[in-house]
Amino acid sequence: MPDYSDETKKTRDRYNRLAMLYDLDDVLWLGSKQFSRKKLIKLTNLSDSGLVLDLTTGTGRNAGLLAKRVKNGTVIGIDISRNVLNINSFRNKKHKNLHRVQGTVQVLPFSDKTFDAVFCTCGMDTIDGPEIAFTEAVRVVKTGGTVSLLHLKNNKGPLDVFNFLSRFYTWIWRAEGVDLFSHVKQHNVDVLVYKNLQIAEAIVVRKT
Ligand SMILES: C[S@@+](CC[C@H](N)C(=O)[O-])C[C@H]1O[C@@H](n2cnc3c(N)ncnc32)[C@H](O)[C@@H]1O
Repeated sequence: MPDYSDETKKTRDRYNRLAMLYDLDDVLWLGSKQFSRKKLIKLTNLSDSGLVLDLTTGTGRNAGLLAKRVKNGTVIGIDISRNVLNINSFRNKKHKNLHRVQGTVQVLPFSDKTFDAVFCTCGMDTIDGPEIAFTEAVRVVKTGGTVSLLHLKNNKGPLDVFNFLSRFYTWIWRAEGVDLFSHVKQHNVDVLVYKNLQIAEAIVVRKT
């Protein structure tokens, strides 16, 4: 397996330094990111109980939505940066069913087949080795459970307003758009949803 530890430490340090600025990014996207997170949860058809994992949980915008949806269950958010997790705790203090873990998504600290659902919003484009993170997501989800992803694609389209925002975002956060769908299909999964949006892709699969 490739060793991403140096790049991942740089990513962690960047998010630790810029944690307070991360939420400005949602303002820049004029609410479209939060709209897309809500849509992904809706497309996943989650029940209101069970155990859900939020990969690269960051400042907790998606985790808060999940905790509200899974009101009789538990949500665990994992992220490599301590400072974003602190903001996440503050934002979501009313959600007692949401817990946070500091760790890396390339080697998840959970046993096989633990979760009913796994999410990763706006994260696969930030991780070094997103294919490894997806393989880990499939490992920790139960058979019949779902993995739901939303991330920027490797975007070379014409420079309209969304394309401009996408390029600006990837430049600021040293992110890299990723086309994960072909990798996703190599796993033992059924594709429930694939939305090829202009600059992003949304994917929901069920583990078989
Ligand atoms: C763009 S933010 C996305 C946060 C959140 N999921 C959302 O929807 O806003 C990306 C997050 O990925 C985290 N991250 C990057 N590489 C990681 C890794 N290898 N393991 C865990 N978290 C990582 C960063 O610390 C950052 O909080």
